[in-house]
Amino acid sequence: MTEQVRSRERVASHGEVFTSEREVNAMLDLVKQETERVDSRFLEPACGDGNFLAEILRRKLEAAKKRATPPRRKKPLPLEFERQSVIAVTSVYGIEILYDNVLACRERLYNIWNEEYEKICKKEVSDECRDAVRFILSRNIVCGDALHFNTVDENGSPKKEPIVFSEWTMISGTKMQRKDYSFEKLYNGEYEPTAEIQKKSKQPANDEQQLSLFGAEDDAPADEGTLTYSYITDYRRVQYDGK
Ligand SMILES: C[S@@+](CC[C@H](N)C(=O)[O-])C[C@H]1O[C@@H](n2cnc3c(N)ncnc32)[C@H](O)[C@@H]1O
Repeated sequence: MTEQVRSRERVASHGEVFTSEREVNAMLDLVKQETERVDSRFLEPACGDGNFLAEILRRKLEAAKKRATPPRRKKPLPLEFERQSVIAVTSVYGIEILYDNVLACRERLYNIWNEEYEKICKKEVSDECRDAVRFILSRNIVCGDALHFNTVDENGSPKKEPIVFSEWTMISGTKMQRKDYSFEKLYNGEYEPTAEIQKKSKQPANDEQQLSLFGAEDDAPADEGTLTYSYITDYRRVQYDGK
C-alpha cells in the first residue's frame, strides 16, 4: 500500500502507521541473506496488511526460481518451482489485530505468489495447489493479539482460542508435514534456538534445512504438550487432510 496512515482513529486505537517501501527494503537488507532463502521463517507480530511479509515473499520467490532452475538451463522447472514456491509461502507468518488488515494481507500474499505461479507454471498450474496456498495463508496470517497470545474475532474482541502456528516441513518429494504449536510457548522460548543446534551439530544452515521459529526438525520440543496437532500429506492436499 502507498499511504502510511488511513485514519486518525486507527492510529490512536491501534498505532496503525504503515512502513514505506523504502524503509521496508532498507530494513530487510539488514538480513538480506535470510530474506533470500526460500525456507527461512519470518514472523511479523504486527503485520498490518503485510508490507514486510510481501517483500519477503517476493525475495523468496526469486530464490525459489533459482532453486528450481537446473544447471545449464535458463528457466525454472514448473513443478519444482511450484514446490519451492509453496515452501516460500509456508515460511511467512503474521499476527494482526484488525480483521480487515488480516484479509488484505492474506490476499496480497496470495496474489504475489499466484502471479509468479502463473508466469512460471503456465498450463501446469493447478487449482488444488492454489487452494493449498490459500489454506496455508489462512493459518499463517492470524487475526490475533500478539501481546496477549490470543486470537480475536472480526470485531477485535478477544476469543478464548490461543494463537497457534503451524510448522510446515517438506519432508521428501511432495510430502509435507504440519505440526501445530502454541505461540505463547514458542515465544517463551521452550525450544532451543536453531543457532545453538547448528553449533552443536557443527552443521552450517543450508538451503534444504529449514530454519525455524520452532526449533530444528530432529530436536524434540522441551514440552511435548505444546505440540497440539500433526499430520503428513501431499502439499497440494494440506487443506483437505487437516482440520
Ligand atoms: C505500526 S503498524 C505496522 C504495520 C506493518 N508492520 C508495517 O510496517 O507497515 C502496527 C500494526 O499492528 C497492529 N496491532 C496493534 N496492536 C496489536 C496487537 N496487540 N497484536 C497484533 N497486532 C497489533 C495494528 O493494527 C497495525 O496494523
